[in-house]
Amino acid sequence: MRRAYIAGNWKMNLTPSEGAKYAASLAEAVKKEAPDCRVMIAPSFVSIPAVLNAVKGSDIIVAAQNMANHLSGAYTGEVSPEMLLDLGVRTVILGHSERRQYYGETDEIINSKVLLALSLKMDVVLCVGETLEERKSGRLEEVLKRQLEVGLKDVLPEEMEHITIAYEPVWAIGTGETATPEDADGAHSFIRFTVASLYSDDIAKNLIIQYGGSVKAGNVKALMAKENVDGALVGGASLTLEQFLPIITYSK
Ligand code: PGA
Repeated sequence: MRRAYIAGNWKMNLTPSEGAKYAASLAEAVKKEAPDCRVMIAPSFVSIPAVLNAVKGSDIIVAAQNMANHLSGAYTGEVSPEMLLDLGVRTVILGHSERRQYYGETDEIINSKVLLALSLKMDVVLCVGETLEERKSGRLEEVLKRQLEVGLKDVLPEEMEHITIAYEPVWAIGTGETATPEDADGAHSFIRFTVASLYSDDIAKNLIIQYGGSVKAGNVKALMAKENVDGALVGGASLTLEQFLPIITYSK
């Protein structure tokens, strides 16, 4: 059985004090409402210590939105996974389309981060997804296959339990445009098929695949009802309790 996994990617929003305040109210709400899913939030690096402190004693997972592909050294402006681990962060989002689009992260760079995170026993949410142009030109499957093959290169079968895949069609991120539940299910089913061919049916069957792209209270239920949709990676609607709480309690 795959347990639902819903994550809030705060992106470059909320200051440390705003984030801590919101995280504390979220932790309280999670305690009260006891959502059926695993709940994760990913604040910016500088907000992580305050947010960790604010959710102490709750089951909320605090993740990073990115990390360096080196342990330490002369990499100005970067944050090492060892620094994250030292804070108590064991989960990292890698390969988000904004990292790919705006910061030139290639599948190879993302793969080096995935391997480094796994070598430190961290959990990874690996994002994949096509642009509108790629979808329109019929290259959806080709793009997903490449992102998975290269992103997961040299990841061992026994490490796959630490991998969650987030399918985020780039054209649906922050645009208000959501893939239909059928579109999402179709892409997720292709991702599962690809992971089955790279690894095994069993690993594919247990793989958690989140959908991301304009998820909100009004569409989460229909998305989560699909066989291959196991969770959500939520951007804009994860920034307030009013919007995020109904998403994580979608099954209630
Ligand atoms: P959005 O972002 O929910 O604002 O579309 C999703 C994401 O990029 O993770």
